[in-house]
Order: sequence, then structure tokens, then C-alpha cells
Amino acid sequence: MSATLADDRTIVERILNHIDHKSTDLSSGVWHEPVDHYVSQARFSAEINRVLRRTPTPFCPSAALPDAGSYLARDAALVPIVAMRDSDGTVRAFRNACRHRGVQLVEGSGCKKALTCRYHAWTYGLDGRLRGIPDEHGFPGIDKNSYGLIPVATVEKHGMIFVTQDGPEAPDADIASMPDLFGSGWRLFTTVEQEFAANWKIVAEGFLEGYHIRSTHQDTFYPLQYDNINVIEAFGRNSRISFPYRRIEKLRSVAPAERRTAGMLTQVYHIFPNVMIATFPTNTIMTVLEPLAVDRTRLVTYTLSNLTEDREGRAAISQGRDFVTAGAAEDRDMACAAQRGLASKANHVFTFGLFEGAIRHFHQNLEAAIAIA
Ligand code: FES
Ligand SMILES: [Fe+2]
Repeated sequence: MSATLADDRTIVERILNHIDHKSTDLSSGVWHEPVDHYVSQARFSAEINRVLRRTPTPFCPSAALPDAGSYLARDAALVPIVAMRDSDGTVRAFRNACRHRGVQLVEGSGCKKALTCRYHAWTYGLDGRLRGIPDEHGFPGIDKNSYGLIPVATVEKHGMIFVTQDGPEAPDADIASMPDLFGSGWRLFTTVEQEFAANWKIVAEGFLEGYHIRSTHQDTFYPLQYDNINVIEAFGRNSRISFPYRRIEKLRSVAPAERRTAGMLTQVYHIFPNVMIATFPTNTIMTVLEPLAVDRTRLVTYTLSNLTEDREGRAAISQGRDFVTAGAAEDRDMACAAQRGLASKANHVFTFGLFEGAIRHFHQNLEAAIAIA
């Protein structure tokens, strides 16, 4: 795998070359992942505590917090978190619990001038500071400055809000090498949450190879896409997998320097450890895989687009999203079927072949992150 992301011209050239030679990018080795890693409670806890909570992870797209006072609350790595945009534009995330007696402050998303607890109406500013206590004389000597919401490290970068609950503040330099996927014209179209009875890594694996396109996506993606033709790149612990559409053939008649990938392929960016961003012609989706239990995962899918918000634009986005949803349902079916297969105890390891190198990269980095921490 290459160390940095290739430009459009190079990606197209590599794909056309693979089409000509009926080949695909190959990993340098087969990987065997112990099946115990998908069922062990100790392993699950290590992934949550040592990796998911310690890695700067995209919490939501910036477009989910468009205005001063916009907030979004959801659980990340089993911890209730709320991110909100202050009146000066800064986004901060906090542990979503009142400092009085711990009631969860907000649910879902919206826009407010301040957060007021439902229980006894302690009120917090958009910067998380405790602003007001009703009948404050009941708390003699209280120092309001030390009762602000508990912050978690938050960085807004590349049109995403990165949150780290317990570790380094900023995403590493590898993330900076990503192209800007969500520039200023990008808006949030929908947010969908779904829960699945599968380990989060089984769900992740479904995004990371194109070896299953023909057999799993016979009537959805396969008519438009090649089976098992991918360009796979690593950037740091992250990876990018390019899935070409058949119409990429049109670029053969375009001068190499003029070749653009937009509309010619889907690219899946795996932001280590649990976020997938996938590009489509009318929209881009960010899917956060939230592990709920060793055998249960919540997918939070944000659909964004830079098409205009008129009727035509909305119809195109809806159509594109429905198409992706149909294909994604097939992936989730496979993930749940793999989860059910665990009970058979037929396998001690899962074997990832040379086409499945991005999965190998994921497991190698996960293993290393658990070992370091
Ligand atoms: S628990 Fe929030 S004000 Fe009492
Ligand atoms: Fe798939």
C-alpha cells in the first residue's frame, strides 16, 4: 500500500490498468484474525477503553452544527457526548450530564441559546460554563466556575468535528493529507440511526473490500460497478478504497492530466478506528460505527450533499441515497449472518486474502493501538 493518497489521474490510471489486466490491488500477505477477538468481552472492553476513547474520532460532520447554538447529542464509545457551536463559531464537546445530579442534559439535535437541565433548571452556556442556579442560596459557597460541563478534546477539521474523550487533542498528520471532502457548500441532508446484531468490526469489514460486489450486490451495485477491482491506499492508520463504476471507461478518451474521479467511482475513507466516509455522485455519507456491545452495533449515518437545495437537487440526493441504502442493507445482512455464524464455532480464525488488504491494515493497527495503550 502507498503511504499517501494518490491524485485523480493516478487513481484512474491504476484502475484502467486493472480493468485491462483483470487484476486488482493486492496486499502483501494473507491475514488471520482470531475469532475470539469478535466474541471476547475483554477484547471488546479493550477496544472501547484503549482505542475508541483515546483516538480523535469524527463525531459528526461540521454541517450538523450549522449555526451558533446548534447542538448534537449522541453516545460515542458508550459515553453520552454533546457537541455544540458557540456564538463565536467554536465547536466544543462535553460529557452530556448535568453537574448537579447528573441528569443527561440534551438529546438529539437542535439549536438553543443555553442548555437548561430538566430536573432543577441549572443552566449552562454554549461554552459549557454554569450560568445559573435557581435559588442559589441553597448552595452556600458554591464556585460556579468549577461546575461547568466536563469538556472532551474537540477539533474541527476537514468539515468534521473530531472528539477525543481520553487522549490527544488533535487528529494526527495523516488526517491532514485527506482531501477536503466537506467544503463550505456542503449541507447535512439526513441523519439515520440503525442498530444491528453484529460486532462493529464485522460491520467495518464490509466497507473495506470490493471482493463481494458481484455476489452480495448482484442487483444493486454490481450492474454499475466492477467486481473485485479496487485501488487500496493507506494513509497512516486510515485507508481509502476506490470502487470504480463501469462508466470510468469513458475516461480512456480523456487526456490523463484532465481525468477526474468524481462521478466515476466511490471512494471509501476509513478513518481509524470506526468511521467510514463514502463518496457517491450526488452525496457523501459519513457512517459512524458505534459499538454497543460485543455483538451489537449502532450505525449513525449522516448524508451530506453540495447539490443545490431546490426540488431537483433534493430529488437527486434522495434517489442517490435510496440506491446506497439498498446496497448498504445487503452489507448489513452479510454482517449479521457472519455474526450468527460465530456461534457455530467452525472457525478459530478468519482468513483475509490478498484482496482484503484494507481489512488487514485495520486489524494490524487495532492490535497495535491496544498493545500501546
Ligand atoms: S440534575 Fe440538573 S439541575 Fe439538578
Ligand atoms: Fe458491500
